[in-house]
Amino acid sequence: MKDSPSPRARWAHRLLRSRRSIRRFQNRPVPRAVLERILRTALRAPSAHNRQPWRFVLVQSPARREALIRVLHQAWQRDMERDGLTEAEIQTRLHRSRVRLMAAPVLLCLCHDTRTEDPYPDPRRQQAERLMGVQSVALAGLYLLLAAHAEGLAGVWMCAPLFAPEAVRRTLALPSSWEPQAFLLLGYPAQRARPKCLRPLSQVLLER
Ligand SMILES: Cc1cc2nc3c(=O)[nH]c(=O)nc-3n(C[C@H](O)[C@H](O)[C@H](O)COP(=O)(O)O)c2cc1C
Repeated sequence: MKDSPSPRARWAHRLLRSRRSIRRFQNRPVPRAVLERILRTALRAPSAHNRQPWRFVLVQSPARREALIRVLHQAWQRDMERDGLTEAEIQTRLHRSRVRLMAAPVLLCLCHDTRTEDPYPDPRRQQAERLMGVQSVALAGLYLLLAAHAEGLAGVWMCAPLFAPEAVRRTLALPSSWEPQAFLLLGYPAQRARPKCLRPLSQVLLER
């Protein structure tokens, strides 16, 4: 077997290794055809039992984004107050989050449809089944970010919906089995990511 990468492998590794999280975007719309290509690639992610439990919600209406920010920030502000943050720090964080969510050309809410889970009589297996669904949804999110990167777009995963899933579900009028997992913000990048500190392979790989 050849040890050096083929041109195809070299190209793919370069693409995969160059993806970074980007949080500021150009004020330039993402063409619908590009967005659909990205979403169709995300549909190819692997999933437990091939159940494809991912669901996507495209939140374009500014009014709906405002409503989302309102409910998310209510919950977040309460948490930060409980954590003892100063009012100034709380307002800075809320402002930064609002700007990000309003300015992103594409805001997707990534959901897990819990109806796709197999039912089990015991909590141990049900919990494993729930985790498999969540893991599958995360893989679709990763495929989506990588497909966006391949298209010259950039994006970031935001965990905010995890902290107020019911409020997000209500605000987006989602089916009751759709569990909000994350926001994915996408657009043409307006910043470069800072160099990232990587854990070396030797720290994360055990051989037995
Ligand atoms: C599950 C998950 C949750 C994340 N949540 C947030 C978030 O809420 N806000 C944010 O700015 N970045 C978030 N990120 C992005 C990470 O900060 C980012 O992936 C990490 O710093 C590594 O940088 P890179 O993506 O540029 O390689 C999240 C990433 C993951 C995988």
